[in-house]
Amino acid sequence: MTGGTGRLWGGRFEGASDETFRRFDCSFGFDRRLLPYELAVDRAWADALVDVGVLTGEEAARITAVLEEIGRQIEAEPGWLDRVEAEDLHGFVEAQLVERLGALGAKLHAGRSRSELIVADLRLFVKDAAADLQRHAARLVAALTDQAERHFGVPMAGLTHLQHAQPILFSHLLLAHAEAFRRDAERLSAAGRSADLSPLGAGAFAGSTLAIDRAKLAQALGFSGITANSIDAVGSRHFALEYLFAIELLALDLSRLAEDFILLASAEFGYLVLPDAYSTGSSMMPQKKNPDAWELIRGKSGRITGALVSLVVATKGLPSSYQRDLQEDKEPIFDATDQASAATEVAAGAVAATGIDAERMRKAAADPTLLATDAADYLVARGVPFREAHEIIGALVKEGERRGEAWNQLPLEVMRQFSPAFEPGWQHAVTVEAALERRSLAGGTGPAAVRAEIESCRCWLSEQSKGEGGE
Ligand code: ARG
Repeated sequence: MTGGTGRLWGGRFEGASDETFRRFDCSFGFDRRLLPYELAVDRAWADALVDVGVLTGEEAARITAVLEEIGRQIEAEPGWLDRVEAEDLHGFVEAQLVERLGALGAKLHAGRSRSELIVADLRLFVKDAAADLQRHAARLVAALTDQAERHFGVPMAGLTHLQHAQPILFSHLLLAHAEAFRRDAERLSAAGRSADLSPLGAGAFAGSTLAIDRAKLAQALGFSGITANSIDAVGSRHFALEYLFAIELLALDLSRLAEDFILLASAEFGYLVLPDAYSTGSSMMPQKKNPDAWELIRGKSGRITGALVSLVVATKGLPSSYQRDLQEDKEPIFDATDQASAATEVAAGAVAATGIDAERMRKAAADPTLLATDAADYLVARGVPFREAHEIIGALVKEGERRGEAWNQLPLEVMRQFSPAFEPGWQHAVTVEAALERRSLAGGTGPAAVRAEIESCRCWLSEQSKGEGGE
């Protein structure tokens, strides 16, 4: 039935495959991961074949029973698939059906092609995986929001170009990361929606010859709709690229979070206290506690970029319709999924377990140079043009450096030589607290704005968990 090759396409072949090529051609080693989806698609297809009169209801029921049995066996016997020889997951299922049902097992493939099957399986996988990763990203947002709430009010020296810039609330920095992961979750959800169309009925590429009710079949598998063009349906992997790109941006955000935590936990900063549970020691230097969790997370982002790039390149320049190159989509998708999911989970745990040295942060936040912008604003409020105020404060900072004193400790007479707009008691208007308070517009580091952002994250999180319950 499968010709001389023992495979699904043997009829027109006489000779066997070259052994090296046969192994090269086989995808069962990795596409078996899609078996749960393949079995679901097969069950729905058996029902569709009843509707078009290819199978009787009784035949479909026998096929369905065996498909369910295969599913149970895979779960019960994890080593089973390692012992099986198969070209791909489609060949594996068909061989099992034939073995258990004889000729009836060979009826299921009527009117369809592996090219539509594989893309249906992959779309179902991407839908689930995107939803899983979305949940992981939400857990990370929750961990960041919790920490932002716990340490609310602690100021730190905010950095641009890694140089002291302006005071911020530590919570504001944590929430900057939370915002990024909220967007990642939204992007994953959008990628899941792009995958959510059933290609079944596309046939090899021109459409099935059986008058399958595609919408009904799609609905049976939980798809929201059907693809519009059969050539596009079997040939396009843009849904997978959208998913990989969503993961890529998640990985970049994880990498940035990792870098911030590594840096702020270094002895030079000493703002963060690395948790034992997410750190490792050195085999040689007894004193070491290393941020390996974060370093691995940062490292994974390169690997994930590799996955995205490999699928972009594999699909570039392909002609329309199915080409075997497309088999190369699965391994990068699986790897990026696994790495991103582990990295996000570890990041959420590490964020939650990290302690802070609030005293050290406060001390650094008291660096008077951080108030230079606010001092310029003080002069602006007294009528000095901003550019001039900028010059004046810059000159004062330099004068302070020359005298070996903090610029804001210079005597009032000296200050007034630089600008008569300085009034007695001016220092009370230019403090860390005032600097924070003044930035209370939406999205700023002012305490009221940061409170509002915590609230916004809480609302978003509760929406996310409602979405989960509804699914
Ligand atoms: N294994 C192939 C893939 O992963 C699908 C089956 C091959 N289809 C074909 N028409 N040769 O893309």
